[in-house]
Amino acid sequence: MLKSLRAVVRFKKFEPDPVKRRLSKVANIEDLRHLARRRLPSGVFDYIDGAAEDERTYSRNEAGFAKIGFAPRVLRGNAEIDTSTTLMGKHLPVPLVLAPTGFTRIAHSQGELAVARSAARAGLPYALSTLGTRSIEEVAEAGDGDKWFQVYVWKDRGLVDEMLDRAATAGYSTAVVTVDTATFGRRERDVRRGFTLPPRIGLGTIIDGIRRPGWSLDFIKAEPIMFANVTGESVGDGSDPVSLAEYVADQMDPGLSWEDIDHFREQWPGKMTIKGIQTVADAKIAVDHGVDAVILSNHGGRQLDDAPAPIDLLPSVADALGGHTDIILDGGIRRGSDVVKAVSLGAKACMFGRAYLYGLGAAGEQGVDFVLEHLVEGVERTLSLIGCRSLDALGPEYLVDYQ
Ligand code: LAC
Repeated sequence: MLKSLRAVVRFKKFEPDPVKRRLSKVANIEDLRHLARRRLPSGVFDYIDGAAEDERTYSRNEAGFAKIGFAPRVLRGNAEIDTSTTLMGKHLPVPLVLAPTGFTRIAHSQGELAVARSAARAGLPYALSTLGTRSIEEVAEAGDGDKWFQVYVWKDRGLVDEMLDRAATAGYSTAVVTVDTATFGRRERDVRRGFTLPPRIGLGTIIDGIRRPGWSLDFIKAEPIMFANVTGESVGDGSDPVSLAEYVADQMDPGLSWEDIDHFREQWPGKMTIKGIQTVADAKIAVDHGVDAVILSNHGGRQLDDAPAPIDLLPSVADALGGHTDIILDGGIRRGSDVVKAVSLGAKACMFGRAYLYGLGAAGEQGVDFVLEHLVEGVERTLSLIGCRSLDALGPEYLVDYQ
C-alpha cells in the first residue's frame, strides 16, 4: 500500500522566493486583482480598481468583449503564428501598449520604473503619465523601450510645453493628449473613503496598514511619493495629501479645445495621439487635425459613467476612418482574446492600465511581467485556436455576435 501511495503522491518543490510562490497560484488577471485587493490598503485598491458613479461604463468596458464570440476555422495548417503588427509605422511584437496611469507608486514603490522595465523587456511601448510619480528623465533611463508621454492640459500651458520639451529631449517617441478630463469624474469609492493622494496617514490607514504589512513596509521605506514631473512648480507637487478631484479642478483646464491640439501638433516633433475619443464625429475631427492615432477610451470608466465602451464604439469608428489612421482601443482588456477581438474589428493595438496595476500591486515588477506574458500568450493561443495565421489576416469573419 505504501508503495502504491508513493507512486501517486508528488509534493510540489518548495519555492523559496515569496513573490514567485505567490505568482505560482495565479492563472489570470482576475486572480492578480484578487491578490492586489488582499495586499493593498483598501483605499489604494479602490482608487485603482474604482470608476465613476455607478461604474456601469467600467463594467461595460469588459462586458462588451463577452458579447463577442469567435467563429473558429480549423485545419488551416498554421504551424507558425505571427502576432506582430505595425503601429504608426513602427513594428510591434504584439499589438499592446501600456497605458498611462497616475500615481503608479502607490501600488508598489518601484512604480513607473518597474512598469517601464517590464515593458522594455517585452518590446512594448509604455506611456508615462503627467501625474506619474517618477520623472520623465528617470523613466527614460529605466530601459531602452519605446516611451510615450501622456499630457494633461494644465491651465499653466507653459508647464505643459516645458514637459513636452523635456519628453522630446529625453527621447520619447509619442505624445498622448488626454482629452476626457474637462472636469474630474466622480469616483464614489474615493468619496466614501475620503481618499487623498498620497494616502493620508490617519487611524483608518494605520489599521489598514497593519493588516497589509508588505505594502506598508514598502511604502514607509521608499522616498515620499510626489508628482515627479510637476515638482517645484506653482501647481503643487502632490506632496501634501489632497483629493485628486480638488487637485484636478485646480490645475486642469476645462477650456481645452481643438486649437490646443493644433498647438501641440506644431510643437511636438514625434507622433501624436489623442486619448479619450468617444464618438465617430470626434474621431473624424481628430484625423482632420493631423493626429497619428486615435485612442478610443473612456478613461477606464473613471470619468463619465454611461459613456460608450470602446469595443462597442470601435466598428463604427473603424468604418468612418477607413483604415487611414490607426485606432488604439483602451478599456476592458483582460485577456489576449480581447485583443484579437479588437483587432478583428479594426483596432491596430490595445492599451491597458488596470491590468498591469493589479500585477504591480500583487507582485511588483514580476507581477507586471506576468501580465505581459499572459496577454502575449493569449493573443498567440487565440489566433491558433481560431485558425488565423497572423493579425493582418484577422477580420470580422472570425467573430460572431452573442448579444
Ligand atoms: C485617474 C487619473 C490620474 O484616472 O488618470 O485617476
